[in-house]
Amino acid sequence: MTQQLDMPSPVAIKLPTPVLSAPLPQAERARLVERIKYLFKKQDAVLVAHYYVDEDLQRLAEETGGCVADSLEMARFGNTHAARTLVVAGVRFMGETAKILNPEKRVLMPTLQAECSLDLGCPADQFIPFCDAHPERQVVVYSNTSAEVKARADWVVTSSIAVKLVEHLKARGEKILWAPDKHLGDYIQRKTGADMLLWNASCVVHDEFKAQALLALKRQHPDAAVIAHPESPQAVLELADFIGSTSQLIQAAKNMPQQKFIVATDRGIFYKMKQAAPQKIFMAAPTAGEGASCESCAHCPWMAMNALDNLAQTLETGANEIHVEESVRVQALRATQRMLDFARTIQQPNRGD
Ligand code: 13P
Ligand code: SF4
Repeated sequence: MTQQLDMPSPVAIKLPTPVLSAPLPQAERARLVERIKYLFKKQDAVLVAHYYVDEDLQRLAEETGGCVADSLEMARFGNTHAARTLVVAGVRFMGETAKILNPEKRVLMPTLQAECSLDLGCPADQFIPFCDAHPERQVVVYSNTSAEVKARADWVVTSSIAVKLVEHLKARGEKILWAPDKHLGDYIQRKTGADMLLWNASCVVHDEFKAQALLALKRQHPDAAVIAHPESPQAVLELADFIGSTSQLIQAAKNMPQQKFIVATDRGIFYKMKQAAPQKIFMAAPTAGEGASCESCAHCPWMAMNALDNLAQTLETGANEIHVEESVRVQALRATQRMLDFARTIQQPNRGD
């Protein structure tokens, strides 16, 4: 069972004021898109983008043979694509995962300031002693972690395979130490009944969804389905008709019979949801209500730092390259490669579209 008593105190995170690019006029965006396409060809580069980044970047990835995907598929795509340079539009752990898997490739990001509250909430110097204190447990970490944390793990997972991996470990009689997301860990524990000790961190976006306000919105739209990412709090997940990773949420939006959806994840995903089901209506789950701080308002402040202009500048200058110290990379590769191998054995489907 979940051992709340042993859960460490959360690490204080100061959210940086995001350095957002100013919205660009259409003519400037078109010029940048053409320039980036030229630089991709010249530098043998491909764009690997997450569903939460700006839709200009998602469209550019689609138009240039790149991918728009969840964290697992981003890792797989970068690992199998022949390009010499991977340009990762997302947050830092995604660039690091690409480098861990592809040391021979150049990995660039539009900005190196794009962090993740889960990664920041699980510093290696605090996490490693916690693991050392529980040597009887398999260490399973979410991919939203630093290379140093992955290097201490037995397994890396993403939300699309986490339940299946924990079921697999439970069937082998393993006890689990899970990090960093307490809500995802709690959800997996409830689904699988596995013995899980949870780290205490959360996602700044999903943590802000409010169950009371969601209930009120559901009452206003009784014909709408609620679909939620499992990084959301338990009270929100209890109101959901479907829970899944970003790819699985897009699939659900396409396949479920409802015409209206209340979506508890980053609203960047609406670009792909509208593409997958153009006739359907999508509403963001509420982040307002009692206790609201609305630091994210359903959009990750770090994902929002990726833009056409800093992407173009990165390609022009070669700045923002991801480096992972080789001994850390080799250690982190073990658990990261296990994630890809496990996903293959359960034949985890590819993207949400
Ligand atoms: P996915 O792996 O479901 O894309 O989630 C990544 C993430 O950062 C969600 O907040
Ligand atoms: Fe991290 Fe949350 Fe942003 Fe995803 S949405 S990158 S989990 S802070």
